Amino acid sequence: MPRILVLNGPNLNLLGTREPHLYGSQTLPDIIGRLEQLASARGATLVAVQSNAEHELIAAVQKAKQDGTDAIIVNAGAFTHSSIALMDAFQAVALPFYEVHLSNVYAREAFRHHSYLSALAAGVIVGLGAQGYEFALEAALTRLASRR
Ligand code: DQA
Repeated sequence: MPRILVLNGPNLNLLGTREPHLYGSQTLPDIIGRLEQLASARGATLVAVQSNAEHELIAAVQKAKQDGTDAIIVNAGAFTHSSIALMDAFQAVALPFYEVHLSNVYAREAFRHHSYLSALAAGVIVGLGAQGYEFALEAALTRLASRR
């Protein structure tokens, strides 16, 4: 059974009330609930972690290597644009991962245009709101199925 980690970084616990014109009206539990439904319909296990702390996100990536996780979907929030340490964690574990951003970061401030993660990612989805996570899950499961 494929195992997928969905990792959300700082301030994504505020979804629903945080700048809804940018990030939409769904809460993080709404988004995770929908992903769990989709995963279980595809016979996959979904594990969700959200943290505002860089070291906890790094620990979750490191743990994924040990616990049989097959792929990671990550929205690292602002750490996307700042965290060499998180990039190193993804490089170290070498698990396929999909980078998601709810907003179109390229239509926003210049500092959001650079991601430390994108060059390592299996795919990047930006600007499609909560549906971006669903597309990432679909892509991850399709790729895993083709490799089994
Ligand atoms: C975000 C975009 C980041 O620039 C921002 O810091 C976030 C959310 C997004 O989902 O659009 O926290 O990752």
